[in-house]
Formats: sequence, C-alpha cells, structure tokens
Amino acid sequence: MKLIVAKGLRKSFGDFIAVDNVDLEVSRGEVIGFLGPNGAGKSTTMKILTGFLEPDSGEILINNIDLKSDPLKAKEFIGYLPEGAPSYSDMNVLEFLTFVGKMRGLNSNLLTTRLGKMANQISLKEVWNKPIETLSKGFKRRVGIAQALIHDPDILILDEPTDGLDPNQKHEMRNLIKTISKNKAIVISTHILEEVEAVCSRAMIIANGKLLVNETPANLEKQFTNKDIISIKVSNKIDSILAKNLKSSINYGDVKIEKVNKDTNKILVSDNKKTLDLNTVLKQVYKFKLNVIEASFIKSNLEEIFRKITTTNASS
Ligand SMILES: Nc1ncnc2c1ncn2[C@@H]1O[C@H](COP(=O)(O)OP(=O)(O)OP(=O)(O)O)[C@@H](O)[C@H]1O
Ligand SMILES: [Mg+2]
Repeated sequence: MKLIVAKGLRKSFGDFIAVDNVDLEVSRGEVIGFLGPNGAGKSTTMKILTGFLEPDSGEILINNIDLKSDPLKAKEFIGYLPEGAPSYSDMNVLEFLTFVGKMRGLNSNLLTTRLGKMANQISLKEVWNKPIETLSKGFKRRVGIAQALIHDPDILILDEPTDGLDPNQKHEMRNLIKTISKNKAIVISTHILEEVEAVCSRAMIIANGKLLVNETPANLEKQFTNKDIISIKVSNKIDSILAKNLKSSINYGDVKIEKVNKDTNKILVSDNKKTLDLNTVLKQVYKFKLNVIEASFIKSNLEEIFRKITTTNASS
C-alpha cells in the first residue's frame, strides 16, 4: 500500500533549481533514507512532501489524497519534524505537546494516552515541565520528534531526526523508528550512513536537486562495485613465478601483487562472487614462507559509495 506517491517535483528559488524532477514512492512498512550533500535539496523536498512549501510543478498523493486540492485532509496523515526541530520555545514540553495534540484534533482521553506514550518512548520525563528554550540541543530534538509522533500518523517525514542526539539516544531513536516502521511509511534524512544501513529499507541519494539513486542499501553496495578487499603486506621479493603460484593457490577471483618497494609487496585479494575469508588467504600466504607484516580486511562501505556517487555527479 503506497502512502506517498510524488511525481515530477520541481522547485526553484529565482533561477536556482533546488529540486529537479524528483519522483518518490513510499509504501507502508518502508523506511527511506534520504541522503545527499549539504544543499542537495533534501529539506526542500521534505517541505514539499509535507505541504509546507508549494512546488512549481509536480503531484503528490498522500494516502491517495491529493495534497494540493485537499491539504488539510492529507496533512492529517503526516507527522513532520522540520530541519532544526523548531518549536515554541517559551512553552514547557507538556504545554507544547498538548498544544500540538489539540491542533491535531486528539480528544482529551487520547491526548493523555499519547502524552504518556511520548514521555516514555522518547524519554522526555525528566524535562516534562521545563521551558523548551532551557533544554539542551538533543532534548529539543526529542521534543520535535514527539510533536511529529503525537497523533500517531501513518506517515513520518523526519528531517535529520538524530542530529545532535547522544549515542544512547541515537540508538534509542533508531530502535524506535524500527519498531514503529511496520505500520508506517517513514522518510528520514541523515548524514549518518550507518543509520541508513541500520534502519532503512531503501536509500535515495539526491545531489543538485536530482535523484541519483533509489536502491536498497545492500544493492547499492553490489551495484557500485565497492568490493571487499584483503590486503596483505609482506617483506619479501615476489618474482613472476612466485606471483603466479600465489595467484593459483589463493582461490579467489582477483589476486594482484603490488610492489611497495624493493623488498616489500602487497597481495591484494578480491572476488565478485565469493565472500572473502582472511584466514584462508593467510594460510596460503604462509605456505610460501612469506613474512607477513600487515594484514587488513577493507570492507566496502556506504560512505565510499556515497562519495563516489555524489562527487561524480556533482558537476552535472
Ligand atoms: N527559501 C529559499 N530561498 C533560496 N534558496 C533556498 C531556499 N531554501 C533552500 N534554498 C536552497 O536550495 C538548496 C537546497 O537546500 P536544502 O535545504 O533542501 O538542502 P539539504 O539537502 O537539506 O541540505 P543540508 O544537508 O545542508 O540540510 C540550497 O542551495 C539552498 O540554499
Ligand atoms: Mg537539510
């Protein structure tokens, strides 16, 4: 069931195009990680999806409701944490969340239940009666998340939800997103790529307003050929015969010998299909009585892939 369907979104500021023909579909149960360099157009896209900013062109259906023709109805389904987690800072947490809950149309029973849930789920009890302006950055962010969740919406658009949270709270927030995601469609923007691997079912990468990638994190790693590599440094000369023997003994797809200096070489092993095992490779290397001085396993990672994609396309 698709809860968000957006087609051909465009938004310019003067003659600068901030969002350039972006399509996006999110189903119930999905968590989309929205990635991109600073200024890529993530927040602008999120503002458009939540009806906060009108696009120059494009269509948005929220739970099959046209956001443009029926904005109030469509927005009922959305919880939104804007960038920087703005709030009414002279209210205390309870007052602010009560105010947002009432604006969201919750009756007093439901509001009480939801307030209790927020206090627990987002660990807000200790600041419950404090003015928001006196809270630390991380607590302000948590209050922002609570206001997005107060009416238990089907769709959550969270602009950098874990920015400024301490490591424990980051972990809690990821768990919370995972727990509630089964019944919701969630879009989060983030600069923390491990977050995408931890919670997202799909990664969308945007740069210069254009959507470049829309893939599962696992497929991203496969597609962008950022392979795992085993690198073994040995303090031995390796002549062509030894190199040939090494290559045939190390039973992996790609074995390269790289000269570091006269007496030092690196054996680089990778494979497109098989999973590498460091021990297996080392055993073969020792068979040739080579003197290993360094061995490392360089795992492919999203960070590298992100850099590759966004820097290659940066000038387009
Ligand atoms: N109201 C505005 N007027 C003019 N330019 C704007 C406006 N809002 C955004 N922009 C520009 O649009 C581009 C995209 O901004 P946006 O905030 O969407 O980026 P972002 O991907 O969220 O970046 P970040 O990772 O830094 O949050 C930027 O160049 C920004 O300066
Ligand atoms: Mg932003």
